[in-house]
Amino acid sequence: MVARTKLHDEPGARSIGPGAKRIAHRVLGSLLWALCPWLFALCASPGEAAEKAAFARQGVVVCEHPQAAIIGADILRQGGNAVDAAVAVGFALAVLFPQAGNVGGGGFMIIYKPDSGTYALDFREQAPAQATPGMYLDPAGNVIPGLSTHGYLAVAVPGTPAGLFEAHRRFGRLPWPRLLRPAIELAARGFETDTSLYLALRRDRDRLLKDPEFARIFFDGTEPKGRIVQPELARTLRTLAAQGAQGFYTGWVAEAIEEAMRRHGGRVTRQDLAEYRPVWREPVQFSVGDATVFSMPLPSAGGWMLKFMFTVLENLRTPDVGWHSALHVNLVVEAAKQAYAERAHHMGDPDKTPFPPFLDTPAYFQAMAQKIRPYQVRPAETVRPTLRPLHEESPETTHYSVLDAQGMAVAVTYTLNDLFGAGVIVPGTGILLNNEMDDFSLKPGVPNLYGLTGGDANAVGPRKRMLSSMTPTVVVRDGQVLGLLGSPGGATIVTTVYQVLENVLVFQMEPFLAVTAPRFHHQWTPDEIRYEPTAFSGDTLRVLQGMGYRLQPVPTLGRVQMIWRWQDGYLGLSDPRSPGGAAGWR
Ligand code: DON
Repeated sequence: MVARTKLHDEPGARSIGPGAKRIAHRVLGSLLWALCPWLFALCASPGEAAEKAAFARQGVVVCEHPQAAIIGADILRQGGNAVDAAVAVGFALAVLFPQAGNVGGGGFMIIYKPDSGTYALDFREQAPAQATPGMYLDPAGNVIPGLSTHGYLAVAVPGTPAGLFEAHRRFGRLPWPRLLRPAIELAARGFETDTSLYLALRRDRDRLLKDPEFARIFFDGTEPKGRIVQPELARTLRTLAAQGAQGFYTGWVAEAIEEAMRRHGGRVTRQDLAEYRPVWREPVQFSVGDATVFSMPLPSAGGWMLKFMFTVLENLRTPDVGWHSALHVNLVVEAAKQAYAERAHHMGDPDKTPFPPFLDTPAYFQAMAQKIRPYQVRPAETVRPTLRPLHEESPETTHYSVLDAQGMAVAVTYTLNDLFGAGVIVPGTGILLNNEMDDFSLKPGVPNLYGLTGGDANAVGPRKRMLSSMTPTVVVRDGQVLGLLGSPGGATIVTTVYQVLENVLVFQMEPFLAVTAPRFHHQWTPDEIRYEPTAFSGDTLRVLQGMGYRLQPVPTLGRVQMIWRWQDGYLGLSDPRSPGGAAGWR
């Protein structure tokens, strides 16, 4: 059984209205929430079919498409390790889940290998060499709406093929071509359009129908096709299977990309493609109790922001702070405001704007903790980024998760940015391209798709990697994986991952409940708390309003795909907010 739930961005998924409807909604929501662990438990069985939850001892895969999860679990059964399965799932999602799965996007991967350590792979897209700070501005210096989000000018050099290839080169066990086979077959034979894809295509059709290639592959007239067949994508994937990453970054695929760019005003050239390299980076590491958390460093701000929030709140979140009490919400929100302020001011591509070392010192975390008063609300405009070291002399970002029988864990968050990226498919290749350029700060203070602002550190520049919030994360205890997780959601990724981790590690929730529990979010600007309709009791809402908070209900926040240790095995848990599934090997 694969349950399907409405995505936050699907039509009809509206925020709740006032009065009786609102109360009924909350009661229903609470009831569903209370039942969810049991529904999860009922669904949780090992086997061939993907479930919302899968219990397994020999390895488990959880992602946003049930069929891709089965493909990953099958690779594990064939003797592949977690990296092999992650590669196969990545390519399968590019076919089955074009909303976010991709070969034309980029992402981040955290790998934990029990006998050798933890590794962070940056395969983030990169601005083309011809990118300039003013490329999305009109002569008066204003941002031209849509230029960084739709069409070829929004596209950055893709990193996914190089990233998956590099991870396999270093850690893979099964032959590379075998990992692409399921994706190639699905692209060539086609698959039935599921509800999630159908609704997403309908929602975005006005912009997607503008690209003739997209329209031809995914639509019959103005209606999404009932069956999606992608022979051109199958050909691209076959080339990748035969030639490795080279098959994408050089040769006929690169030529086709350059040709489409030239025709439609894009800036990515064959040289940009040929020179793209993924980068191994040092993971962000911190402790929560006796667990060690590993997450993504810059160019994702996610890892540092997680570390900031856990570290600063460590002593403030005393045992009497009840889950989702006004006090708990205020503490988390105050920490999040500061974290997002630092992100906006200081962070960007670490190879162009180095990360200020003082932001990772005990003195800094201590000073930030001292600024937080449990019952005091700092209006966002009074929360400023920290501009200089506090004590001169002190030392010192669609997600899927895979775990194999040897305890090797792979957490991958990769993206096209917006659903369906830039909404353009390179003719003849089937490659749907990203609109990741919008993650740059196009102009200081002007919010991007996710309402995030930034400054010089994340300004558009040649060959720069744009700042991300993607937060693939692995948690280890006593040398053994305790769990791994991540989420999509733009700016809301960090607070989503933070809250699920806080639920299990601090509030000791069952993993089912930790993923299902309602969430809230604050990102410094705008100065408001967004919350899922069942997140707060009426009392808590009133207290928070009394504290001066602006409160904005939203349908959902994030879609977590988590694996967590459970009895003598592991549970793969696909967020009920997501169309995904988990599959395991008993
Ligand atoms: O890298 C980032 O932070 C964004 N491009 C992530 C986009 C995202 O999560 C879209 N999902 N809803």
